[in-house]
Amino acid sequence: MAKNDLKTVYVCKECGHVHPKWSGKCRECGSWDSLEEEVTSPAQPSFSNGVSIVHSTEAELISDIDLDTREEVRMETGISEFDRALGGGIVKGSVVLISGEPGIGKSTILLQICKSLDKGRKILYVSGEESSTQIKLRAERLGVVGDNVFLLCETNVDVILSYVDKISPDLLIIDSIQTTFSPSVDSIPGSISQVKQCALSIIHKSKDASISTVLVGHVNKDGGIAGPKVLEHMVDVVLTFEGERSQFYRLIRASKNRFGSTNEIGVFEMGDRGLIEVTDPSRALLSEKPKNVAGSCTVCVHEGTRPILAEIQALVSKTVYPAPKRVVTGLDYNRVSILLAVIEKRLGIYLSSQDVYLNVIGGLRLDEPSSDLAIVMSIISAYRNIEIDDKTVALGEVGLLGEVRSVSFITSRIKEASRLGYKRIIIPKSSYPKDLKGLPEGFEIVAVKSITEILKLFA
Ligand SMILES: Nc1ncnc2c1ncn2[C@@H]1O[C@H](COP(=O)(O)OP(=O)(O)OP(=O)(O)O)[C@@H](O)[C@H]1O
Ligand SMILES: [Mg+2]
Repeated sequence: MAKNDLKTVYVCKECGHVHPKWSGKCRECGSWDSLEEEVTSPAQPSFSNGVSIVHSTEAELISDIDLDTREEVRMETGISEFDRALGGGIVKGSVVLISGEPGIGKSTILLQICKSLDKGRKILYVSGEESSTQIKLRAERLGVVGDNVFLLCETNVDVILSYVDKISPDLLIIDSIQTTFSPSVDSIPGSISQVKQCALSIIHKSKDASISTVLVGHVNKDGGIAGPKVLEHMVDVVLTFEGERSQFYRLIRASKNRFGSTNEIGVFEMGDRGLIEVTDPSRALLSEKPKNVAGSCTVCVHEGTRPILAEIQALVSKTVYPAPKRVVTGLDYNRVSILLAVIEKRLGIYLSSQDVYLNVIGGLRLDEPSSDLAIVMSIISAYRNIEIDDKTVALGEVGLLGEVRSVSFITSRIKEASRLGYKRIIIPKSSYPKDLKGLPEGFEIVAVKSITEILKLFA
């Protein structure tokens, strides 16, 4: 192609709109600082802004569609925690995007799926990031035999799709979508137009041939999925790998799922044999909980259908800075700021001269408001240096007036606490269960209406 044919355009990362000139704000969607320079050929427009994924030959009546031969057929991967996050396995012909920080374990879990998937199924594993020897080395470490696994180290999407036609796999894995490129688009791999075009071609193939597909996606520096925002709209399921690389636990959470709940999480532990499923996360997360130390409180959150016990730790110390420090991991920063203000106003505990550090153990992220009461209790415990009995669980949403508000799934949370040997649970009065059977003798339920009532625990 002659150099003169090439044209520089600016593409919005958020909406994919193409601008002839750079500007600080996208004219289409209004987002700031979202334009990226791309070199493209005017003769072959790289893509349209609209996204069309499924070709339909003719319109048909919804009542005429035969379900037995259509989408809703799930394929279990053999890794139950992964299937749980997906809502029971990968739906045939669906496209799953899995993203996460570098080195978190994306390639590892996908290679493990190659091992655990039913032997009768064919898998095509396409890698644009590692050589076949590197993948083989990892496969040996993970014990993947791979009688049914075809490996392809290729980045050209046309070549990849020709192999898909040749092999007709049941599962197609693309590691990663950012490394694939389409020769019809004149910009570098990983650019917005390339990612969009390649994803579009792969999704077309996946829908047409009913091939379940998993795309690996890189993350940008803010933790979002790199590439166009529209990528998340194009796929059926978006899974995110969470957890600190320095810690053992890894969580897989669905942020979008066209075929299931987005509340379920899969919990894993990283080891030298790969990712091991943690089927009893409560027990694992609390295994190292220290005894008789101030600043620690156990909470019970509900992730999908499963209650999970977790430990919140707080450290409160006199500040040496003009403005006190607030360091929060695993919790929402703004939520913690509100709770600190509620503690000051409603309990008269002044924390404006104190640094506050909060952490959820195990790399877990707690977004449920039911963690509020445990956050408040851990802060008071740390501030007053009075420990909370280590057989106590606290849960409840705290309102701005200091009231403790109701939470859902109270019975299953109480049962989980008693299963793990806890002796006392502090819950909102409005959530007091009417019918509770099978609780061990001596298990105490303390119902509170306001956070002022918990102060007597620290007397
Ligand atoms: N020999 C080993 N023993 C224990 N853990 C290992 C070993 N080799 C790799 N790991 C773990 O596997 C992780 C790398 O996993 P993997 O390559 O699947 O990550 P990834 O998410 O695919 O990363 P990238 O985005 O860079 O491709 C390492 O961070 C490390 O925790
Ligand atoms: Mg990888």
